[in-house]
Amino acid sequence: MTGPNKDIKFPLDNYDRLCFLKNVVKNPNIIVGDFTYYDDFENIENFEKNVKYHFDFVGDKLIIGKFCMIASDVKFIMNGANHLTDALTTYPFAIFGNGWENAMVGKSYPQKGDINIGNDVWIGYNATIMAGVTIEDGAIIATNSTVIKDVKPYSIVGGNPAKEIKKRFSEDKIAKLLEIKWWNWDIERITENIQNLTDNDIDNIVYCRRSVGFKFFALIQVRCSLIGRCFEIGNKPYRRTLATSVETDDQTDMILTKLK
Ligand SMILES: CC(C)(COP(=O)(O)OP(=O)(O)OC[C@H]1O[C@@H](n2cnc3c(N)ncnc32)[C@H](O)[C@@H]1OP(=O)(O)O)[C@@H](O)C(=O)NCCC(=O)NCCS
Repeated sequence: MTGPNKDIKFPLDNYDRLCFLKNVVKNPNIIVGDFTYYDDFENIENFEKNVKYHFDFVGDKLIIGKFCMIASDVKFIMNGANHLTDALTTYPFAIFGNGWENAMVGKSYPQKGDINIGNDVWIGYNATIMAGVTIEDGAIIATNSTVIKDVKPYSIVGGNPAKEIKKRFSEDKIAKLLEIKWWNWDIERITENIQNLTDNDIDNIVYCRRSVGFKFFALIQVRCSLIGRCFEIGNKPYRRTLATSVETDDQTDMILTKLK
């Protein structure tokens, strides 16, 4: 068993107020990753209604990563909401025509860009995310916040305008989490690590899957690499051949660093 089917709409039995969002959204300008869920007190179809001012002719995107948790009444304010702010009036004369259609000739409404939500981001009840904002991996958005600026990885922000309340972990631990990017692992490895992911010792996660055998192989790699250097054999291709048979280079590098 490797967790729920990511391609179904309702992962909880007999409960239709929580959905895997990517299987619900219809708008091609809303892109959602696997296992990201949305819950709604009334109806999960409310999600797209809460992506406000999202017009096809503007073409801006709401991009949400994997394993995010989006609470009821979370709203996204897209670029279609913008009026001119540096003109004498913000009133949108042009849309009413009848002699006012020229009001916007040679001008355009402010565009702040797409909204980008990373992976493993938790957005609390009734939070509002403004156009152009990027919320990085592992962040938490507190209940009722209005997010107007980018949010750093693994930070908790709250209030209106949302300000950083605290970091979730030390800088060192955050760097490691951003390096392993567990949300990109295959589902078998995530499942094997469920206990570790819900604990808080990052070192257990790195070693868990390959345990003793993997550490041994990594140790052999270090030895081969040193021998390679002694005999002036190109170290890099030598190491790479071994690395590809075990794990990605990034993860191998991390483990070698730990072993040294
Ligand atoms: C953000 C949150 C996770 C913080 O929880 P916590 O780590 O236990 O933090 P605390 O309650 O100790 O609060 C820490 C600080 O954040 C502030 N804070 C907490 N929630 C806040 C909010 N919604 N807006 C602004 N500030 C908030 C507190 O005032 C406190 O400030 P202080 O350090 O100056 O005293 C929690 O408050 C929250 O909003 N959870 C979301 C719940 C939710 O909406 N769930 C939806 C269903 S999934």
